[in-house]
Amino acid sequence: MNALDSVADDPKDAAHIAVLAHEVIVGLNIRPGIRMIDGTLGGGGHTAQMLERSAPDGTVLGVDADPAALRRVQAKFPDEIAQGRLVVAAGNFVELEQIAQAHGFANVDAILLDLGVSSFQLETAERGFSFMQDGPLDMRFDPTQALDAAEIVNTWQEQELANLLYEYGEETRSRRIARYLVQHRPFTTTGPLAQAVEKAVGGRKGSRIHPATRTFQALRIAVNEELTHLEQVLPQCLNLLKPAGRLAVISFHSLEDRIVKQWMQREARTYVHDPLHPFGGQKREPTLTIITPKPLTATVDEANQNPRSRSAKLRIAERPHLIDADNYTKNNE
Ligand SMILES: C[S@@+](CC[C@H](N)C(=O)[O-])C[C@H]1O[C@@H](n2cnc3c(N)ncnc32)[C@H](O)[C@@H]1O
Repeated sequence: MNALDSVADDPKDAAHIAVLAHEVIVGLNIRPGIRMIDGTLGGGGHTAQMLERSAPDGTVLGVDADPAALRRVQAKFPDEIAQGRLVVAAGNFVELEQIAQAHGFANVDAILLDLGVSSFQLETAERGFSFMQDGPLDMRFDPTQALDAAEIVNTWQEQELANLLYEYGEETRSRRIARYLVQHRPFTTTGPLAQAVEKAVGGRKGSRIHPATRTFQALRIAVNEELTHLEQVLPQCLNLLKPAGRLAVISFHSLEDRIVKQWMQREARTYVHDPLHPFGGQKREPTLTIITPKPLTATVDEANQNPRSRSAKLRIAERPHLIDADNYTKNNE
């Protein structure tokens, strides 16, 4: 059994099945010999399939901010790494162009971003991503960075905390929660924080999701600057793609999906409105072709097998054949 088989067969990996994997492989047009970037390597689930479908000579650069993810993947794919088919790199995808260039992946056929937190991270209590098990208030993808969730919860002013919960958690009870947290801090672990949020909103009140879900989402987004990093990586992906190369992005909440959707729409425009222009605007060479006008979502079967896939939205776009780098720069000046 090689490493690629073991990804699907290892019972330990049952909870880490790659989300929308078939749609990603087909949508990215994975075929033998191509060069690819997996910007969110995680447990290597998508990378395994990318390697398999591009065999015998396709290559993947796998990037993750979390050194623990890289160590797992290195242990899982020793043969592919030895053959040079998989190159792994520690780093934040906010620097994707630089990382790709450093590893000779500046011109690729396919890029995948499967955003957010991995099942490994969620299930490791010490990483502090989950309120289901008590762990330190951490939530950093990259444990070497300074800011963690404890610093935000314990030092930010009430108003700042309320704004954070409202903007990044879309939490309508943000003020009430922020006031309660400030009155009852410091918090050092996830369990008491989740209980405090529950008390602040007066219990569960029949809600399907735990009352702390939105607070935890907001904290994680802030700790890892997830939305700004996403905004910054998308144009870099375009620069890294060959003509006819494709980008796939899987997002798990509406804030991420909106950023991806609006960016793709902007790049695909054929006309730019400009009130100062004599004709009110001008034609523009699109820098992207949208492949999925509506995002792809999990089938009922996948959603039943892998609950994490239920909120996943996959958007795919292609760099047009004719466009060149100069054109892209000109269009975005
Ligand atoms: C949803 S998981 C990816 C799972 C993976 N596709 C698989 O099939 O196993 C997301 C991963 O991306 C990483 N990540 C999130 N944001 C990142 C960023 N800005 N730069 C680098 N890695 C990031 C996380 O550490 C996590 O391991």
